[in-house]
Amino acid sequence: MEQFLRGVSLVGSGSAYLPLTLTNHTLSQLVDTSDEWITSRTGIRQRHLVSHGDSLGTLASQAARQALAMAGVEPGAVQLILLATSTPDDLFGSACQVQADLGATQAVAFDLTAACSGFVFALVTAAQYIRTGVFQTVVVVGADVLSRWTDWSDRSTCVLFGDGAGAVVLQASDRDRLLGFELCSDGSLNDHLKLPYQAVPDPLTPELSVQKGGFTPIAMNGREIYKFAVSRVPQVIEKALFRADLTTGDIDWLLLHQANQRILDAVAERLQVAPDRVLSNMANHGNTSAASIPLALDEAVRAGQIQVGDTIAAAGFGAGVTWGSAIFQWG
Ligand code: ACO
Repeated sequence: MEQFLRGVSLVGSGSAYLPLTLTNHTLSQLVDTSDEWITSRTGIRQRHLVSHGDSLGTLASQAARQALAMAGVEPGAVQLILLATSTPDDLFGSACQVQADLGATQAVAFDLTAACSGFVFALVTAAQYIRTGVFQTVVVVGADVLSRWTDWSDRSTCVLFGDGAGAVVLQASDRDRLLGFELCSDGSLNDHLKLPYQAVPDPLTPELSVQKGGFTPIAMNGREIYKFAVSRVPQVIEKALFRADLTTGDIDWLLLHQANQRILDAVAERLQVAPDRVLSNMANHGNTSAASIPLALDEAVRAGQIQVGDTIAAAGFGAGVTWGSAIFQWG
């Protein structure tokens, strides 16, 4: 009987290149804000926006292609593509478009929605398929185009978000490098951050009506999400570390969802992780939702910061609300 390797290795990363930038200075011409306010409250200096002609799918494919190239894996060898996104091009899902773009003809592909926790949730989900021996080569993409759903007249949210895509390639291996994880949800806090569908009744006949509405832009209670993040994220990382039989002293890199530099600083302080061990690229990208963790990972790998064998504590948090942590070794 054929024996499959059941360990999980992360063997390649990639990210999409978005040439369009939106600076704090430009934003301050659109809404009543300033570079000083945005930088001091969030750490964000600019964000990238999807170009006309690009789409969520093309960004995701670009990131996946780069990750496959780094891993030295042909698209035809990919068996599963998981696309973490809350902003698909098509509500029926955009992962199959990525599959077609890549020419990954043997892969099954589907979307996974968990907002800014999406990449961590997808990484853990993908790992389960490898651990059970079902698949040996998987691409996990985190991609979002939040600019489509941002209220550009709301200064409390429009300064935060950017577009982006990042990807990793997972392969079955003899050693499991996903060392521990913990995933959480609390729907009772859903009202604090949402992008809701607003139903409008549309009569078909005098007796029958259907819903014909639309999605309304992102609405967020920033203070509540901030409190949620700084209290729950350290806990979930500690739980994931406990499952990995590690302590914060074993972490080479803390890789958090890039929402706000103050959140990163507060979480690192609670976990007693030194600032130079905390990966941060939000000054350049803002909050790119499901893309933020794989994007920061890819930049750090390509910059030579993250080395093969480094232990990374990643944590996502956001709408749902959802939050989760994955502890893994790179390479
Ligand atoms: N420019 C200038 N002033 C502003 C701006 C702005 N862009 N936005 C808000 N203000 C004002 C407010 O009106 C308020 O004024 P007031 O005191 O006169 O009422 C003042 O600044 C302070 O507002 P706060 O909301 O208390 O500002 P805070 O320091 O909390 O920062 C922020 C706001 C940046 C949104 C912060 O709360 C935050 O980062 N929250 C977490 C967001 C997050 O992590 N989201 C993650 C998930 S995203 C996802 O899942 C899609």
